[in-house]
Amino acid sequence: MSESTQLEGRFPPPPELAAEANVKADAYEEAARDRLGFWETQARRLSWEKEWDRVLDWDKPPFAKWFVGGKLNVAYNCLDRHVEAGHGDRVAYHWEGEPGDTRTLTYGELTQEVCRAANALLKLGVQAGDRVAIYMPMIPETVIAMLACARIGAVHMVVFGGFSADALASRITDAGAVLVITSDGGYRRGAPSALKPAVDDAVSRTDSVRNVVVVKRTGQDVEWNEGRDLWWDDVVARQSPEHTPEAFDAEHPLYIMYTSGTTAKPKGILHTTGGYLTQVSWTHWAVFDLKPDRDVFWTAADVGWVTGHSYIVYGPLSNRATSVMYEGTPDTPHKGRWWDIIQRYKVSILYTAPTTIRTFMKWGEDIPAEYDLSSLRLLGSVGEPINPEAWLWYHKNIGGGRCPIMDTWWQTETGAHMITPLPGVTTLKPGSAQTPIPGVSAKVVDDEGNELGDDSTGLLVLTEPWPSMLRTIWGDDDRYVDTYWSRFGKNVYFAGDGAKKDADGDIWLLGRVDDVMNVSGHRISTTEVESALVSHPTVAEAAVVGASDPTTGQGIVAFVILRGNVTEEQSGEELVQTLRLHVRREIGPIASPRQIMVVQELPKTRSGKIMRRLLRDVAENRELGDVTTLTDSSVMELISEKLPAAPSED
Ligand code: PRX
Repeated sequence: MSESTQLEGRFPPPPELAAEANVKADAYEEAARDRLGFWETQARRLSWEKEWDRVLDWDKPPFAKWFVGGKLNVAYNCLDRHVEAGHGDRVAYHWEGEPGDTRTLTYGELTQEVCRAANALLKLGVQAGDRVAIYMPMIPETVIAMLACARIGAVHMVVFGGFSADALASRITDAGAVLVITSDGGYRRGAPSALKPAVDDAVSRTDSVRNVVVVKRTGQDVEWNEGRDLWWDDVVARQSPEHTPEAFDAEHPLYIMYTSGTTAKPKGILHTTGGYLTQVSWTHWAVFDLKPDRDVFWTAADVGWVTGHSYIVYGPLSNRATSVMYEGTPDTPHKGRWWDIIQRYKVSILYTAPTTIRTFMKWGEDIPAEYDLSSLRLLGSVGEPINPEAWLWYHKNIGGGRCPIMDTWWQTETGAHMITPLPGVTTLKPGSAQTPIPGVSAKVVDDEGNELGDDSTGLLVLTEPWPSMLRTIWGDDDRYVDTYWSRFGKNVYFAGDGAKKDADGDIWLLGRVDDVMNVSGHRISTTEVESALVSHPTVAEAAVVGASDPTTGQGIVAFVILRGNVTEEQSGEELVQTLRLHVRREIGPIASPRQIMVVQELPKTRSGKIMRRLLRDVAENRELGDVTTLTDSSVMELISEKLPAAPSED
């Protein structure tokens, strides 16, 4: 961030909001005085069948146990307890399909649907602790399936519907899933988009899956595997709408969510029950200042990512919120679709990603200006640093200059918000996530782990365990320790982000410091894309970098060396297209490179390491940095000459 961004204004909390805010400044003092006591208070916002004997067991770091000995059921906390308290008629979701079809689900109805689905899972032999893969579009059954798993103690593993059959297969195998829940397809960009073929392909390559349950959404033709495949309507509809939830241990696994690391193999991040729900529920209530009787809350993200898990499903439902859930893309059938949704459902809180905001900026402020957005009172941002220009645009054109913006820093691994302003307390600085939430301890350190003072730049670390932290990487405790808890010792979590502390001690996130790219708020590792490229028969070697991109934050730029048997004529634009498609097939469309450059050599150090820094300079059209450690500095001239004038869009 440039110094000038710090001069672009300060935004104090709106006085009416501050006066009625769910959380006031004293929360910071309370948590500072007694951090564990603070989290105990937040845990008591939930309903426990049995209270814990001990708040935190950190005897064997980095393996944490929170609310030891406590027992609760997540689905009960998200559903039944609200119905029992007389809120069965409150709307849980206003769901809208991309073609314009709608469904409204009250807490009462959702509870019954989840009970039916839970009974169906039990009939299919799914037991507590079993893993269930969910590969779905954004439809209510996705949430119902997740909650049904939680209700019976099965561990859900949602795979984003945009991922390929390959990606799905490797996740099913790693998790050992016994069941897959999917649909024929979903609607995207005005057309049905199939999901079942990818499941068929993936399941044929795995041996743990017994059944595939298929929700009918688009009505498109599907291949049917007799004996294995079952229609959701056939197995769920006839079940009883009643099911008595069993309370599970606070540390019972709740879900696995795969995310990219610095190697080609994604990591199965494991979240458990009591601590996760405590922090997700409290942050959703505190950071968005949720008033369940007045607000209409909308996280415009996919349930297939952690943002959807925590802030479409578990946070909002545990707080009895009314949410909007939308299936499709923001420009279908027109570029005002989101604003039309906000106007119709009177959305009061909107949570989305900077990349989407920058896309709206490109489309122009005239579009939101045609709609009545006066119901909005609070905005949120997540997924990557929000540049001050986008922040100010969002504040003015969507928030009407009156809505505070919560820039929330967190990760799949943290499970819930960690660094963010609080709407009734913080004077906002556009572009900065600012302060750790009460009960969380974040520091900026140098390479040796020494804490840095104000006005300095270094690495972000978390220095105390937090309730919604990941517990391990599924099946790989060693990798868990190595990845997050080895750089600065077993008590310090290394987040992988660079950060700056300004003169007031506010934190500015600066992006990843490892080989992980952030494309449209999605994490993709350079090695994952490289190994997809080299798996193509024409590619001998590949190097991938994330280059800054005005809309997506980072764009994927690949440099490939072709195999000797590929002729000059074969190596043109057609091959580049083939390689792009190949990556889409291997990983998914989100990993499709923005540019692929065919080169003769890659810049390497004398020890054979690819110098990505130089490739990034080329990809971002910068003056080349220091090339003296290169084996052959003329390589860079050759590569620079190859660079096409303008990046081609996919
Ligand atoms: O680099 C940070 C960035 O996204 C990473 C986490 O990605 P993921 O696990 O996919 O979760 C995304 C949704 C929580 C972080 O390491 N990131 C996320 N939020 C912000 C952010 N960077 C800056 N500011 C944010 N608000």
